[in-house]
Amino acid sequence: MARPIRRIAINTGGGDAPGLNAVIRAVVLSALRRGWQVLGIHRGYEGLLDTSKIIPLSREAVRGITHLGGTILGTTNRGNPFEYPTRAPDGSMITVDRSDEVVGNFKKLAIDALIALGGDGSLSIAHRLHEKGMPVVGVPKTIDNDLSGTVITFGFDTAVSVATEALDRLHSTAEAHDRVFVVEVMGRYAGWIALNSGVSASTDAILIPEIPYDIGAVCEKIMEREVEGRRFSLVVVAEGAKPAGGEMATRGPKEAGREVRLGGIAERVAAEIQEITGKESRAVVLGHLQRGGRPTTFDRLLALRFGAAAVRMVAEGRFDVMVGLDPPAVLAVPLADAIGRTRTVPLDCDTILTGRELGICFGDRP
Ligand code: F6P
Repeated sequence: MARPIRRIAINTGGGDAPGLNAVIRAVVLSALRRGWQVLGIHRGYEGLLDTSKIIPLSREAVRGITHLGGTILGTTNRGNPFEYPTRAPDGSMITVDRSDEVVGNFKKLAIDALIALGGDGSLSIAHRLHEKGMPVVGVPKTIDNDLSGTVITFGFDTAVSVATEALDRLHSTAEAHDRVFVVEVMGRYAGWIALNSGVSASTDAILIPEIPYDIGAVCEKIMEREVEGRRFSLVVVAEGAKPAGGEMATRGPKEAGREVRLGGIAERVAAEIQEITGKESRAVVLGHLQRGGRPTTFDRLLALRFGAAAVRMVAEGRFDVMVGLDPPAVLAVPLADAIGRTRTVPLDCDTILTGRELGICFGDRP
């Protein structure tokens, strides 16, 4: 028999993704309907260290937010309480474990369950906090679509739509100038955004982390097109793509308590293409345009379904789980099975096969 619930809390951690507000709305309305109170925790887990900004979420607080990007609760990817970035007396940055404070404040506030929205990092923290006595239900969020335990995460469809539209726009200017455009998209260690936008926008080459590329193969594709009178080309490259035997492009050193920043691969690839083919090449980095703004209809609906399902799981007393889409159902997946397993693009997946049938170069010579 599940323990009675009176008060739940919700937070959003890690990088934002379109659809977070839709989840918040679904959670709040589903919980209020059951007579529960809902507390909104500011900036991921940070709001459980400094509790002064915790707010009760009423029906009014979540009115008209389903279609809005960002998160009304704010977020951070520096707020891991197990490795909290702190300035040491000598001025250097170190990390300290403040997880006991988080659990202590959670109990002091008489919260019965936390619904934690986040990617792999935030959900791993949720799992560890659960082990320390905080009942949690996770909701998977990332534009990168790289989480195990769900066939898709909300935010991904929006990011792919933004990238596809950008590629469509660059198509005409590339053609007008007989240029090569290399477009860098997000995705870290998974090439889903590059793959889906690249195939949808009919790019000539798609470079993803899962297939280390040979720049020679990309240039051959560009020159084959040249011979056919197609004097322009579009290449989409995932930020985590790397040449065979080479390294990913990173920006600056890794900061304490954070993942290393990726970026710069499009510049590198464009410069190499220009040098090898002699064709004028330009790099475009889509960056955070892929994360901002309104969620697509698909992402809104998925986010609303995830939020409502998370509350059902709390009501059923199912904790240490994450909601996941296993079409047509939304199921509870043990957090331990979902975290720490980056879901990369399988090399034999249908979308790659489709791209190959269409003559798209993946930077290899299959
Ligand atoms: O994980 C989502 C993501 O958008 C990645 O694709 C990207 O590498 C990262 O976040 C960038 O985040 P930030 O700008 O916060 O460093």
